[in-house]
Amino acid sequence: MSTIVYNVEQVAQACSDALLTILRESSTAIGLIIVMFWVSWKLTLLFIVIAPLIAWVVKWSSVRMRRLSANVQQSVGDVTHVAGEGIDGYRVVRLYGGQKYEMEKFNLATKSNLQRELKIVVTNSVGTSSIQLLFAIPIAVTLLAATNPAMHISAGSFTAIVAAMISLLRPVRRISMVNTEIQKGVAAAESIFKMADEPIEKDMGTRRLSRVKGDIEFRNVCFEYDSSKRAILKHINLKVEAGKTVAIVGKSGGGKSTLLNLLPRFYEINSGEITIDGVNINVYQLAELRKQFAFVSQDTILFDDTVANNIAYGLPVSVDREKIMQAAEAAHATEFISQLPEGLDSKIGEDGVLLSGGQRQRIAIARALLKDAPILILDEATASLDVHAERHIQAALEDLMKDRTVLIIAHRLSTVENADHIIVLDEGEIVETGTHHFLLKNEGVYAALYKAQFKE
Ligand SMILES: Nc1ncnc2c1ncn2[C@@H]1O[C@H](COP(=O)(O)OP(=O)(O)O)[C@@H](O)[C@H]1O
Ligand SMILES: [Mg+2]
Repeated sequence: MSTIVYNVEQVAQACSDALLTILRESSTAIGLIIVMFWVSWKLTLLFIVIAPLIAWVVKWSSVRMRRLSANVQQSVGDVTHVAGEGIDGYRVVRLYGGQKYEMEKFNLATKSNLQRELKIVVTNSVGTSSIQLLFAIPIAVTLLAATNPAMHISAGSFTAIVAAMISLLRPVRRISMVNTEIQKGVAAAESIFKMADEPIEKDMGTRRLSRVKGDIEFRNVCFEYDSSKRAILKHINLKVEAGKTVAIVGKSGGGKSTLLNLLPRFYEINSGEITIDGVNINVYQLAELRKQFAFVSQDTILFDDTVANNIAYGLPVSVDREKIMQAAEAAHATEFISQLPEGLDSKIGEDGVLLSGGQRQRIAIARALLKDAPILILDEATASLDVHAERHIQAALEDLMKDRTVLIIAHRLSTVENADHIIVLDEGEIVETGTHHFLLKNEGVYAALYKAQFKE
C-alpha cells in the first residue's frame, strides 16, 4: 500500500515539475547556443566535442538512478511494513517482550533505507559535478584562445561568448538534476504499471442468472493452490440438493474452506466440474454467480462505517431502512445495536473494534439475511463464540438457513447433527458420508471425532 502511494507521488513529481523545468531550461540552452554560434562557430564546436562525454555521464547516472530508485521503493515499503506490524501487534509485542526485537527490525529497515537514499544522493552529485567539470573545459580553452593574438577575437565577442558559456551552465545543471527526478518517476511508473497489469479475474461467463434453485454438484473436482504444489482436493464428488443442509467436517487443514471457496469461483479448479442447477459455474457471469451466495465465516470483515451500511454492504444505496431493521432483528442483533450511541447509524471503528466477536458475527448474519441469497455458506461461523453467544446465534442462523441450500463447516459437531447430510473430509478426500445417526453407527472417522468432542 505504502509503495503505491510513494510511487504515485514520484510519478506526479516527475511529470509536473520536471517537464516544466526541461521545457524552460532547454529553450534557454538552445537560445544561448545559437548566440554562441553566431559569435564564434569555431569555439562553439568545442562543445560538440564534449557532448558525447556529457551524454555518457547522463546515461550512466540515469541507469544507475533508476535501479537505485527501485531499491528505495522497496525499502520504503519495508520500513512502513515493519512499523505497521509493530503498531498493530503492540499487544503481542508487549506481552511477549518483543520490543527489543521489533526495534532492531525497525532500525535495520531504516538503516537500509538510509543507505539506499544516500546512494541516490551520491550518484546525483557525482553526475552533476562531472557534467560541470566537462563544461569547464571549453570555457578554459576559450579563455586561452582569447589571450592568443592570432585568434583575432575582439573584446566584445570574447565577453559575449564567455558570458553565454557561463550562462549555459545553469540550464545544463538544472536539466541533469531534473533527470534524477525523471528517472525516479520512470522507476515508480514501471512498478505501478506492473501492478496495474496484474491479470484480473477471468470472467468468460456470459450466461445471466436471476435466482438459482440451488442444486449443487461437484464432479471429480481436483484442486491445488498455485503456491501449494500439492493436491488440496482430490477427486471430490458431492451432490447437494436444493434446500438441503450439508455439513462438512474433518480435521483442520483438510480442505473444507477451500472446497467451499471454489463455489463463488474465488479460485479456479484444476480438473473436474462444478455445477449449479446443472450448469457449469464457469458459464455464468461472475458477478451474477456471486449474487447467489451469502457467506458467514469465522473472521467477520466489517468496514469502518455505520452499522446500517455494514449490514447493507454491497446492496444498492436505496435499500429499505425497514428491511435493514428486520434483518438486524432476525439476526438477534437489535438488542445490542439499540444500546450503541446512535443505534444503526453508529460508526463502528476501524475494522469494527468496538464490537465483541459475537456482535460482529450477528452483524455478518444480518448482512447475509438481507442479501437473501439462495445458497448460504457457513464456515465455522460460531467457532469463536462462547456458549451463551452461540445460543443466540444458533437461533439467528436457523432463521437464516430456512428455505436455502446450506453448506456448513462446523468445528463443534453438536451444531451439525441436524444436517441432512454430513461429509467427512480428510486430507482433501471425502472419507465418509451419511446422516449423523448413520455415521455414529458406522463407527468410522466421524464417530471417533464425535466421541472425542463429547468427552471434552
Ligand atoms: N491461499 C492458500 N494458498 C496456499 N495454500 C493454502 C491456501 N489456503 C489454504 N491453503 C492450504 O490448503 C490446505 C487446506 O486448507 P483449508 O481449506 O483452509 O482447510 P480447513 O478449512 O479444512 O481447515 C491447508 O494445508 C492450507 O495450508
Ligand atoms: Mg477452514
